[in-house]
Amino acid sequence: MAVLVVGASGAVGGAVVAGLLERGVDVRATSRTPERLSLPPQVRTSAADLDDPASFDPALEGVERIFLYADMTHPEPLLARVAAAGVRHVVLLSSSAVTAPGAADDFNGARFLRVERAVEDSGVAHTFLRPGGFASNAARWSWSIRTDGTVPLPHPDAAQVPVHEADVADVAVVALTGDALLGAAPVLTGPEVLTLREQVATIGDVLGRDVRVVEQTEAESAALLARHVPEVWVRQIIGDWRAAVGATPAVSREHERLTGRPARTFRTWVEDHVDLFR
Ligand SMILES: NC(=O)c1ccc[n+]([C@@H]2O[C@H](COP(=O)([O-])OP(=O)(O)OC[C@H]3O[C@@H](n4cnc5c(N)ncnc54)[C@H](OP(=O)(O)O)[C@@H]3O)[C@@H](O)[C@H]2O)c1
Repeated sequence: MAVLVVGASGAVGGAVVAGLLERGVDVRATSRTPERLSLPPQVRTSAADLDDPASFDPALEGVERIFLYADMTHPEPLLARVAAAGVRHVVLLSSSAVTAPGAADDFNGARFLRVERAVEDSGVAHTFLRPGGFASNAARWSWSIRTDGTVPLPHPDAAQVPVHEADVADVAVVALTGDALLGAAPVLTGPEVLTLREQVATIGDVLGRDVRVVEQTEAESAALLARHVPEVWVRQIIGDWRAAVGATPAVSREHERLTGRPARTFRTWVEDHVDLFR
């Protein structure tokens, strides 16, 4: 029986495919543009769009477990098809946002909760991976770091526990290769609390040159972010930073408990992606 990875082009999805292949699993992969995937020939690829549930039907045939991104507006019809196809385990890339107080009233929390509910209601056994903020969010700073060695930020003392995408994938691979995580919903974080300012300093340290924070107002930050992300995300990102100033976010040990290896540091993430900043 095969494992289907939806979003094999993604940072997490790509690492999940690699981890499954290392374990000799029969892997299938989908993307909205499968012609752009570069995977070994034994991986059967097909086109599928989370917003077009019927597009998944050919890919679901003979699939035992599925790795799924939560980026969909109407999850119920897709999950009904997944159940009807006989898939017996869904591993969903959700978010720790669902565990925050008032998650149902929060834009980000609510969209993941809706997909989690649809998975539960489908009756298919599941694992919800609930990562906190990704280390890869720092990739947004690459342009200004390359241009003039600065990172403009309104709340540089916001505290986070950035998680490496490979750690999320490691736990997904554990879930997809056995029944140990059926019904589990591990919250995944990096191994250390770091402010945004400390993350910027780490990037400078790895690059071996001065990279500094330039403080800006929320309005200035919103104008800058709005060039690249929708308005609703601009508010979410700035609101999350504001709320994280002076916070002491919890460090999860779930990655180590489930994989036997310590979670990767933010520094490791920067080293793994250093060309973004050069
Ligand atoms: N950034 C954070 O701090 C954070 C925190 C918690 C959770 N998350 C969640 O983690 C995910 C991002 O992970 P990542 O870094 O691996 O993302 P990524 O590298 O940007 O890849 C996103 C993947 O999702 C697939 N995808 C998106 N929309 C799709 C659609 N309509 N139909 C089919 N596939 C679709 C894309 O596939 P194709 O383009 O190939 O079709 C791509 O492979 C998001 O769901 C996000 O909400 C992020």
